[in-house]
Amino acid sequence: MDLKLAGKTVIVTGAASNIGRAIALGFAREGANVVIADIDEGQADKVASEANKLGGGGRTIVVRTDVTEYQEVEAMVGRASDEFGSIHVLVNNVGWVLDRLFLEQPHEDWEKTVSVNLWSVIYCMRAVLPQMVENGYGHIVSISSEAGRVGEYREAVYGACKAGVIGLTKSLAREVGRYGITLNAVCPAVTVPRSEEEIGEHSLWKVGLQVFTPEVQEKAKRLYPLRRLGTAEDTANAALFLASDVASFITGQSLSVGGGFTMI
Ligand SMILES: NC(=O)c1ccc[n+]([C@@H]2O[C@H](COP(=O)([O-])OP(=O)(O)OC[C@H]3O[C@@H](n4cnc5c(N)ncnc54)[C@H](O)[C@@H]3O)[C@@H](O)[C@H]2O)c1
Repeated sequence: MDLKLAGKTVIVTGAASNIGRAIALGFAREGANVVIADIDEGQADKVASEANKLGGGGRTIVVRTDVTEYQEVEAMVGRASDEFGSIHVLVNNVGWVLDRLFLEQPHEDWEKTVSVNLWSVIYCMRAVLPQMVENGYGHIVSISSEAGRVGEYREAVYGACKAGVIGLTKSLAREVGRYGITLNAVCPAVTVPRSEEEIGEHSLWKVGLQVFTPEVQEKAKRLYPLRRLGTAEDTANAALFLASDVASFITGQSLSVGGGFTMI
């Protein structure tokens, strides 16, 4: 299926690591121009250079951005528009969690969790929507989580934010659908990076890989009807589809990419 993404301009937040990396490479392979918005410039540069070697026909650039700062988000969208013209697609991929029981989580963790997982999505949507409304065109895909659909042990505030991303997606889909803009959420289950090479300094997997040992992964697989964990490409494929015109009649949905972990 030709997703017709060639020539489109796509912003992917948090694309220096794991799932975002696979999403950026996926768009680059399809011939899109990709803007990687991440705080980890060194790792983002590596992904951009990999993307630019794929020969898809588009160009990938890095704009160092802290997506929890609205002014930086606005500046990033301005830079992306100067470089490539109209923004066709936004993928809100940035996320962060440190697994802890709610009663043991310090206030600073809640603040960071809400900033990274929810405020960043609000900011990025606010910054791209005016031009999408004016152009009468746009697709926004936000990476939520199964934790936002069914809740998750030791991820209470994170789960609340990810449910918030779904609510924001549905509500805005109702507001801006009339301008030809779609918004959808993708909800991955556990998606362990293949190697340390594929994650950055700020990746949640810096700590996560110590907890999610190969033995723990083997046990976790039994919770999935398909008996495997997710790959970054599993989520990237769903994101690319929902960001394409092939999916132009799908909006306000949350799609589980979780091997059947949840079926709601
Ligand atoms: N990996 C999983 O098991 C899993 C499961 C469900 C949902 N998710 C969601 O998928 C998304 C990607 O997960 P991942 O495993 O690839 O995460 P990751 O931690 O490996 O990558 C996140 C990226 O975001 C960047 N980042 C962090 N804070 C930032 C900020 N303030 N501004 C800009 N960039 C920032 C990091 O530098 C990193 O490159 C997240 O939204 C996560 O919540 C992941």
